Amino acid sequence: MRVLSGIQPTGRFHWGNYFGAIRQYIALQENEQAFYFIADLHALTTIRSADELAGFVRDAAIDLLALGLNPEQARLFRQSDVPEIPELTWLLMTLTQMHLLEKCHAYKDKKEKGLAADAGLFTYPVLMAADIILYDSNVVPVGLDQVQHIEVTRDVAGRFNHVYGQEVFVLPEARVLDATAKVPGTDGEKMSKSYGNTIPIFDTPKRLRKKIMSIKTDSTPVEDPKDPDGCAVFTLYKLFSTPEQQEELAARYRAGGMGYGEAKQTLYEAAMEHFAEAFERRAQLEANPSEVEDVLQAGAKAAREKGREVLDRARHACGLSRRP
Ligand code: ADP
Ligand code: TRP
Repeated sequence: MRVLSGIQPTGRFHWGNYFGAIRQYIALQENEQAFYFIADLHALTTIRSADELAGFVRDAAIDLLALGLNPEQARLFRQSDVPEIPELTWLLMTLTQMHLLEKCHAYKDKKEKGLAADAGLFTYPVLMAADIILYDSNVVPVGLDQVQHIEVTRDVAGRFNHVYGQEVFVLPEARVLDATAKVPGTDGEKMSKSYGNTIPIFDTPKRLRKKIMSIKTDSTPVEDPKDPDGCAVFTLYKLFSTPEQQEELAARYRAGGMGYGEAKQTLYEAAMEHFAEAFERRAQLEANPSEVEDVLQAGAKAAREKGREVLDRARHACGLSRRP
């Protein structure tokens, strides 16, 4: 079974990305044929600084490998290294109904706010459809917000098959990553780079500690008992700890006499321990940029091989490249 997913390099990865997505990608690589890519063409719809984009792409590749993406098991590549994607996008675009794209949230939200949207944002879901069907992908692990785009993919791929009377494309299924796993940010709301409340996975220990110390808590005095449920510090701690450790910290909350600063310190230590190996691997990878580039190139080669096969099928089905 082919598993495929893409992640946009529009900022440094944070705890929400890790627990909500990256960790699952890594778990799936063991048993499935996994293709993961850095969606830099998609990121062009939001990042308009060349240096910034190049930096985020580089960091995304290093971060994913450091966190455990194993290039022996899964393929990792840059979207822009696969020119078959934009070609397939065009074929799909000719069969995509406008009303489907008008409903898609990225475009719709922008329009509702009275902001000018460009054609890139409008047609973004078609590029995503091409990303997926180019490799006969069966399963696409995504967050809930992306399910709509998988529906567009299925619609467009199905329409192509119908119009050309052949099973050219495989229709993918979304696999929704634990939709309840909403990692809170430093303000207690959903962690997201758009809200400026993220805790990055990789940063200096000093800056990470400062970020963790800035998590919003209520003003219960140190000596009073506290309720762990609903406290962002405790919710985050649960991600890094065993049930026994959670029970232990919960008991300290309820007993009173522990300030939130102490709870935050416990969270900081647990997070540092959890990511210790990844920090080490990251430092090694950072010192070996050519190793990272080799992984991306090998990934792109494998992706293009499979992609070429599917694209040729599509070209043939719609009458392109037929010689007399
Ligand atoms: P952001 O909201 O910071 O822009 P993205 O939308 O790029 O993050 O998300 C990339 C992936 O990480 C998606 O699969 C999304 O579901 C997951 N993700 C992001 N933030 C969280 C969060 N706070 N909790 C759980 N998963 C998250
Ligand atoms: N649009 C996705 C996001 O913002 C990223 C993405 C691009 C993607 N192409 C994809 C995800 C193909 C899954 C499959 O998160």
